[in-house]
Amino acid sequence: MNLLAEKLSKYDAPQKAKAAGVYPYFRVIESDQDTEVTINGKKVLMFGSNAYLGLTNHPKVKEAAIAATKKYGTGMAGSRYLNGTLDIHIELEKKLAAFVGKEDAMIYSTGFQVNLGVVSCLTGREDYILWDELDHASIIEGHRLSFSQRLKFKHNDMDSLEKQLQKCAPDKVKLIVVDGVFSMEGDIANIPEIVRLARKYDANIMVDEAHGIGILGRQGRGTCDHFGLLPEVDLIMGTFSKSLASIGGFIASSESIINYVRHHSRPYIFSASNTPAATAAASAALDIMISEPERIKHLWDLTHYALNGFREMGCEIGHTATPIIPLFIRDNDKTFAITTELFRQGIFVNPVVAPAVAPTDTLIRFSLMATHSFEQLDYALEKIEKTMRKAGVLNLAEVLC
Ligand SMILES: Cc1ncc(COP(=O)(O)O)c(C=O)c1O
Repeated sequence: MNLLAEKLSKYDAPQKAKAAGVYPYFRVIESDQDTEVTINGKKVLMFGSNAYLGLTNHPKVKEAAIAATKKYGTGMAGSRYLNGTLDIHIELEKKLAAFVGKEDAMIYSTGFQVNLGVVSCLTGREDYILWDELDHASIIEGHRLSFSQRLKFKHNDMDSLEKQLQKCAPDKVKLIVVDGVFSMEGDIANIPEIVRLARKYDANIMVDEAHGIGILGRQGRGTCDHFGLLPEVDLIMGTFSKSLASIGGFIASSESIINYVRHHSRPYIFSASNTPAATAAASAALDIMISEPERIKHLWDLTHYALNGFREMGCEIGHTATPIIPLFIRDNDKTFAITTELFRQGIFVNPVVAPAVAPTDTLIRFSLMATHSFEQLDYALEKIEKTMRKAGVLNLAEVLC
């Protein structure tokens, strides 16, 4: 065995989990992605999806993807910079910019690439990036690539953010980057206070709306719109892989910022552009989101019902206020065991363990879609309550609450 193989062969956590029958990853779905999916020939209820509006199966979204494939083909064979720009890319960029009230927008082939490519290129060596400790991994990877000074603040803690702002040289650029809705915890960033501090210290703000778009704000415009503060936020990031039922992402901002990013962002320049199908699907999903607000309303009816249900059963759900509901287990083994047991009972949920969260914060991530019915939700709540009670997690939660 050579050195690399020998070193890596010591990593055997997945093998151990498989041997114990609790390995919860890479479950193979054999059906379409909706509230019910087929895995190993068995139907299970899906409560682990990010398709909050349930549009991945919408006939108009599928038709748009098929029509674009027929017209433009399957792949772009090049970056936006060179041979990979289509008219539908430009149309979608204009639509997205208008949607979030910014002068311009640009689309990347994934949301991860957006954060990687934007956060890494905006600020210089003497500037600062201030980031929430629970920001998404793609934001963290973005500032790891940057030469700027990186200042972490405690999760949604505005005193901590202010202390970090006070450390910055007044004449240097200070970019605050946060998730609008935190992806694992479901809580909402304190945008009003961030805006106030940004004004006080002459800082700029970038908000990742991956989980805000389609859920919060007018017609799903996101967290900043929810607070009426879209104009105060310099950069709005969004992804197509959640409410917009596709793959890809965007950044929207002023003309000058987008012009700079377009010509400096390496993951944008040196990677092939979005496929025609993905672009057209996101565009169609955006239209549906705007024209069918009843979807968002149903999602919120389900969310309020679920939040009450989990609270009543004594489950620790933290500060969530969205369709992303963390069921805190705070124990790795129990998190895996409960996920496996729920799956056996026909419920798909996601285990979230380190490094996605701190080892003491392990949780089961339960998420809702606008296409869920109350019957499906009731079924899941009943099974979850029984399983968590049996595992002794609810008692613990009651003490913690
Ligand atoms: C907050 C946040 N930002 C960015 C991303 C990356 O998006 P994508 O899946 O489109 O690459 C995710 C995806 O999980 C996310 O949760």
